[in-house]
Amino acid sequence: MTRQIAVVVGASGGVGRALLAALCRDPRYSHVVGLSRQRPADLIDNAGQTWIQANILEAESLLAAAQQVTALGTPALVIVATGALHGPGFRPEKSLRALNADSLSEVFAINAIGPALVAQHFLPGMRRDRASLFAALSARVGSIADNASGGWYGYRASKAALNMIIRTAAIEHARTHPLGTCVAIHPGTVATPLSQPFVGHTAPSRVFTPQVSAGHILRVLDGLGPEASGGFYAWDGTAIPW
Ligand SMILES: NC(=O)c1ccc[n+]([C@@H]2O[C@H](COP(=O)([O-])OP(=O)(O)OC[C@H]3O[C@@H](n4cnc5c(N)ncnc54)[C@H](OP(=O)(O)O)[C@@H]3O)[C@@H](O)[C@H]2O)c1
Repeated sequence: MTRQIAVVVGASGGVGRALLAALCRDPRYSHVVGLSRQRPADLIDNAGQTWIQANILEAESLLAAAQQVTALGTPALVIVATGALHGPGFRPEKSLRALNADSLSEVFAINAIGPALVAQHFLPGMRRDRASLFAALSARVGSIADNASGGWYGYRASKAALNMIIRTAAIEHARTHPLGTCVAIHPGTVATPLSQPFVGHTAPSRVFTPQVSAGHILRVLDGLGPEASGGFYAWDGTAIPW
């Protein structure tokens, strides 16, 4: 068995850190690379694990990171686990009245433009000779068909834009990488800094730990092949309508 390289972008986040830890335990991967702006406090480089500082909004930073990854080998798995729902000076909007151009630009940049730049820098360098998988963590609220409750304009719209970027990239990717798979995946509601201000009314049994969510995500991704490319899936493997 040839052991392979896996990359987690957003390795400092709740779900990203759990994905990195799970992949490090997976014997199929000889080397796991984590990318984020901040080094996760508990992450130490070793023979099987490397951290690279990268900002998904800076093309030069992604180019340098992609070159460092290529020096280690050709990735078979890339998961983009970055994202933002709130931040300094912005929160999800409940009404049109709450919209603000700066906040909308920021949330679109982090949730849609950043993953698009990651795809630009990492998809072409993925394995061609055997199966490979590129996945971006999206959110069910980015489904237009599923939107029955409104609100969260910027987050919803930026995840819908991400979904379109993934769908479009999957079509282009298939031309050069027929064994490649490129998907968007919803991790469920997960107890992380992103969700923390908003899960107060959610039954605890419906909120995953990052470790449980990472297990679900990796199980679903394991079952997806090229015929599933361009799709949007939930943590339980069901397809989510656009
Ligand atoms: N938690 C949930 O309930 C939930 C539900 C549905 C979907 N999701 C999605 O799942 C994904 C992971 O969310 P999470 O809950 O793990 O969030 P989180 O704990 O807040 O982590 C967010 C990650 O995004 C990274 N990030 C933000 N801006 C960045 C930038 N410019 N460059 C590089 N990295 C950047 C952060 O890293 P640095 O700040 O270190 O760079 C961090 O690693 C997101 O896409 C989110 O939308 C989460």
